[in-house]
Amino acid sequence: MTDPKSPAVELRGLTKDFSVGLRGVRLRAVDRLSLRIEPGEVFGLLGPNGSGKSTTIKVILGLLAPTAGECRVFGVPSSRVEARVEVGYLPEAPNFYRFLSGRELVEFYGRICGLGGAGLGARVAEVIAWVGLTGAADRRVGTYSKGMLQRIGLAQALVHDPQLVILDEPTAGVDPLGTAAITDLIRQLKARGKTVLITSHLLTQIEDVCDRVAILDRGRLLLEGPVDELAAAGGHATKATAETLNAAERDELRQWLAARGKTLAAAEAPRPRLDQIFIEQVERNRPSVEREQP
Ligand SMILES: Nc1ncnc2c1ncn2[C@@H]1O[C@H](COP(=O)(O)OP(=O)(O)OP(=O)(O)O)[C@@H](O)[C@H]1O
Ligand SMILES: [Mg+2]
Repeated sequence: MTDPKSPAVELRGLTKDFSVGLRGVRLRAVDRLSLRIEPGEVFGLLGPNGSGKSTTIKVILGLLAPTAGECRVFGVPSSRVEARVEVGYLPEAPNFYRFLSGRELVEFYGRICGLGGAGLGARVAEVIAWVGLTGAADRRVGTYSKGMLQRIGLAQALVHDPQLVILDEPTAGVDPLGTAAITDLIRQLKARGKTVLITSHLLTQIEDVCDRVAILDRGRLLLEGPVDELAAAGGHATKATAETLNAAERDELRQWLAARGKTLAAAEAPRPRLDQIFIEQVERNRPSVEREQP
């Protein structure tokens, strides 16, 4: 049985190697990754393309076995089927059955998750309404736009009301309005006590919705913590606002503000945006040679 008091996800020294090419060269996709995601948290897993985010998610889902290390979901090793009972998953490139209607598709996933009987139809209608697809529920999925596909993907991930929702790039290819709607759904999930693990390259969205983030590069954890704490750490520039100055004073201010006898009307250290932290971390941890490559 899963234990709702255990961390929703716990990774200890998780390592995943793939063997690639005809010679079976070893590629380390995830490298000794340790992370805890607490129940009720919205956690952002960030990193450049190929940094190991989706591989980590597939290990959490039990779709891939780790090469080394441990992975538990609500206290249960992710290799065990029980670990998946409370998990909903939106894959990064969902390949749904094109000839089913949206309603049939969500019903199909509901049945896979053990739902049935009279309650199933009502639950399917409820999640479809929740993702805003009621009007298109009886159209074939093959006719859906990208944004609609992501929404029906969300509906299938939520149909069995899981405690842990894993969304691998839920807003890939979605317009700003659709992105705002998906961000709002994530907030609603949090308000209902669900745990959400999300990957996205839209860092402003992540910043707005996540309690904590981790930044990976080449499978390794570079940085992890609450967005506010990450932003407070590190020597980011201080922005000062002076009282009205004329042009000459502005020139002199550059040399020495205090010597002009002006009072600062406001002085603040603006919080660096998450995209700034992300780029700094990734660049700092890459060898200089790589940095100079186009
Ligand atoms: N089945 C596989 N076989 C071989 N290599 C793989 C396999 N799956 C992933 N990889 C490799 O593992 C590394 C991590 O890939 P992964 O898909 O986890 O990255 P990601 O962080 O999700 O990237 P993206 O942001 O592009 O989705 C990459 O180098 C990728 O080529
Ligand atoms: Mg990925």
